[in-house]
Amino acid sequence: MKTLKYRRPRGTRDIIPEEYELRERLLEKVQKTIRAYGYKFIITPVFERTELFIRSIGDSTDIVEKEMYTFKDKKGRSFTLRPEGTAPVMRAFLENGIVPPAKLAYVMNMFRAERPQKGRLREFWQVGVEAIGVKDPLVDAEVIEMGYSILKELGAEKLVVLLNSIGSIDERQAYKKALLDYINEKEQDGSLDLCEDCKRRKNKNPLRILDCKIDGPKLKDAPSLTEFLSPESLKYFNEVKKYLDRWKVNYREEPRLVRGLDYYNHTAFEIVSEKIGVQDTLLGGGRYDSLAEDMGGPATPAIGWAMGLERIIDYFYRIPIIPGPFYFVTTVNEFSKGYAIGLLKKIREWKIPSDMTFEPKSLKAQMKIADRLNAVKAVIVGEDEIKLQKVRVRDLETGKEELVPEKDLVRIYEEYLAERRKKGLI
Ligand code: HAM
Repeated sequence: MKTLKYRRPRGTRDIIPEEYELRERLLEKVQKTIRAYGYKFIITPVFERTELFIRSIGDSTDIVEKEMYTFKDKKGRSFTLRPEGTAPVMRAFLENGIVPPAKLAYVMNMFRAERPQKGRLREFWQVGVEAIGVKDPLVDAEVIEMGYSILKELGAEKLVVLLNSIGSIDERQAYKKALLDYINEKEQDGSLDLCEDCKRRKNKNPLRILDCKIDGPKLKDAPSLTEFLSPESLKYFNEVKKYLDRWKVNYREEPRLVRGLDYYNHTAFEIVSEKIGVQDTLLGGGRYDSLAEDMGGPATPAIGWAMGLERIIDYFYRIPIIPGPFYFVTTVNEFSKGYAIGLLKKIREWKIPSDMTFEPKSLKAQMKIADRLNAVKAVIVGEDEIKLQKVRVRDLETGKEELVPEKDLVRIYEEYLAERRKKGLI
């Protein structure tokens, strides 16, 4: 093959028809469930003012430090392709005067300049939800339970919710100090050597070190955030767990879970599958009660999550072979071709996927094309059939034929759909 001049950028992917079909099927299911929980869908712009992300995600996070696709427009203003959906959705909630409580959901592509590998892309799709305006442990539990149920429904196996409470800002402040003291002490006695990133982050936000893939594990004996939670925060967290128990959500407390974004407080969680290992989180989220106020809006508590669509597809699905046109109309001569063109138009008005070849070809050659296109049935329009006001339908898998009136083409298609539905193929 000749060498192609252009290839897609690293870490992106073309969604070719087979994967497109699979995505549509998954998204249809997910959106139905999300709507059943009372959410409405929104879409925000692909790019936003860079400031929005720096202020909300936090300037010492990996996303802001290394992963944003940022560019300047002609007037020198800085914009960034959205790396996540929570900040834009909260901005849209405030800017459009949406009245709380509001349950907003989205299916949007995100952009992060990470090192590409399986399950880690530079452009990826998230399905996310944001429950804005209510602070109650029941809401936290409901949001988590919904994510857990959706992943289950999508076929993800061996799911565990990793759960933590990262407390209020003040509680975290006290913890940060204790963590920093611990780190400094260990560094001084030579038993801890942090990576370059963490050395830099240490004084800005030591919590980020817990989230670092290299240094996080070195801190397993460091003080735990849970010890710094106030009785009220602990009570809130216990209530969340109580409801999760009641709804039989499989969760595990993970006192070191801090998440890679700065806007969280209190409940923080991730859902992983023990089948694929915990490094590739399927879903992540948490409560973010001060984000609205930080953006200049009224104090508005909120909680939400996002799941990565590609991770679900790549780990739990095989890309299906999709059928081609349902009917492939074939002709035997110019006369029958004229008739067939009219029939094709009718079939399409019935919204049945159908096609034919317009080039003059033998019936055998037309059948070959039908096969190559993975068509389900051939409709043979010959002179005898036209005289009888009928068409011959050949099943391309079994070779079985039936002579039927044109309008039966609808029935045959519907029976096929019903059969596929019964087999769970659509
Ligand atoms: P996040 O943990 O950064 O949270 O991302 C959520 C999910 O997006 C991950 O669990 C993963 O499935 C997927 N994901 C993240 N990065 C990539 C990547 N490079 N390639 C493929 N998939 C990826 C957030 O984005 C928060 N906005 C979630 C949230 C909503 N919190 C509150 N509301």
